[in-house]
Amino acid sequence: MSPEREGRYRLGLLGLGVMGSALARNLIRREIPTALYSVSQKEREAHSLLEGPCVVCGTIGEFVGALERPRKIFLMILAGEPVDEMIQTLLPLLDPGDVLMDGGNSHYRDTERRCRLCREKGIGYLGIGVSGGEKGALTGPSLMAGGDRCAWEQAGPLLTQIAAFHRGKPCCGYVAEGGSGHYVKMAHNGIEYAILELIAETVCYLRGEAGLSPDQTGAVLERWNRGVLGSYLMEISARVIRKRDGDQTPLVDRILDVAGQKGTGRWSEEEAAARGVPTPSIYGALMARNLSGQNMLREEGAAAFPCTAQKGPLLTEEELEQALSLAVFLAYSQGFELIARAGKEEGWRINLRGLAGIWGDGCIIRGRILDRISESGFTGEKPLLFEPAFSDLRSGEAALRRLTSAAALAGDCFPAFGGALFYYDGYRTGRMPVFFIQALRDCFGAHTYRRTDREGSFHTEW
Ligand code: 6PG
Repeated sequence: MSPEREGRYRLGLLGLGVMGSALARNLIRREIPTALYSVSQKEREAHSLLEGPCVVCGTIGEFVGALERPRKIFLMILAGEPVDEMIQTLLPLLDPGDVLMDGGNSHYRDTERRCRLCREKGIGYLGIGVSGGEKGALTGPSLMAGGDRCAWEQAGPLLTQIAAFHRGKPCCGYVAEGGSGHYVKMAHNGIEYAILELIAETVCYLRGEAGLSPDQTGAVLERWNRGVLGSYLMEISARVIRKRDGDQTPLVDRILDVAGQKGTGRWSEEEAAARGVPTPSIYGALMARNLSGQNMLREEGAAAFPCTAQKGPLLTEEELEQALSLAVFLAYSQGFELIARAGKEEGWRINLRGLAGIWGDGCIIRGRILDRISESGFTGEKPLLFEPAFSDLRSGEAALRRLTSAAALAGDCFPAFGGALFYYDGYRTGRMPVFFIQALRDCFGAHTYRRTDREGSFHTEW
């Protein structure tokens, strides 16, 4: 590197895969002098002709040397071991006060461990949830930063420049200490799993039960997108359902019903189970993906177990919209409930309405409902479901009930809608059947039970 380039670049971006490359272009478009590096020579070469205030470095030493101090390095590499390996490579080259940021979908416990490791060396560390896919990274993602506050003070202004903006505010912010940035990104993805499955189940109902064509289905989704369901996922659903293959067959009809996953949905459920938070819609969505992989067995089952399907009355378009709106709202309620619980247990002071603002644009689950959450009195003390501002959505209860029963009678597997109703009914059941479990546990294992009429723990010789 020529001496005049040394120490000149405000940010170092390491990793030039799909997301890294898009972020690089975003940074350059915003005139932020950026040094780029990738361990892959192919990726370095692919970016060598990028125009703008950037340099593609040939070695990691050159890359670190190109950065102004304190250095700020954004890792956009594969989550897991590659992050640990890269931190080990970088640490000896950095100085106290420098800042490392990980923008991958890392597990929050890994982020906390890395935070501690870097702190011992005086290096600031941020785990950053980046949402919005390739397009978001290019035009403005939603960025959720967690970790050292001092590191955020250093790097926050740069990150804010590349993030999406919504209603005059950046969709970028400091969440809290430790792994909180990656935690909220994980919960974002849990909500994403639930909403994707809810939309997929709705599309199946519209096509299968209501008998609509792809274009008619697209038109319904477009109409809904103009109302309370207005969101990025609704918008792309309307587009995707209409897409035709070369011979005019709807493309979605040729897509294998086996869904992939990279782990954040499963982590959400592991977290929910470990912290005792009810998240049945996310669970249903995750199990749907798991079960989707059993496609050979499912085909065998379809032939072997004929369904005594009963056709109930069809839901109207308006009823379906109400059922989906409530179920989507309940997916947010579950995700926020998980975050609120983790925040309490981990000592993170997360501003949940602020987080709704960070998700206001740029991210995959962006939608009108997030504006309403930002503007509500929601604090996380109680689940979002209880917020007075959402009584219009709660009034979809009868429609949600009709849809889930219609699906059950027809033999349709709709676990996300079923999970939504489970969550809703769970929170409106004053006395749950579990009193009987307590009696049985005490009977077979002397586990004791509590009483409704007296304080204390009791055991009975049943
Ligand atoms: C985003 C997305 C993105 C991706 C997840 C989920 O916010 O930009 O959430 O991170 O969609 O990795 O992927 P899977 O569906 O493959 O688990």
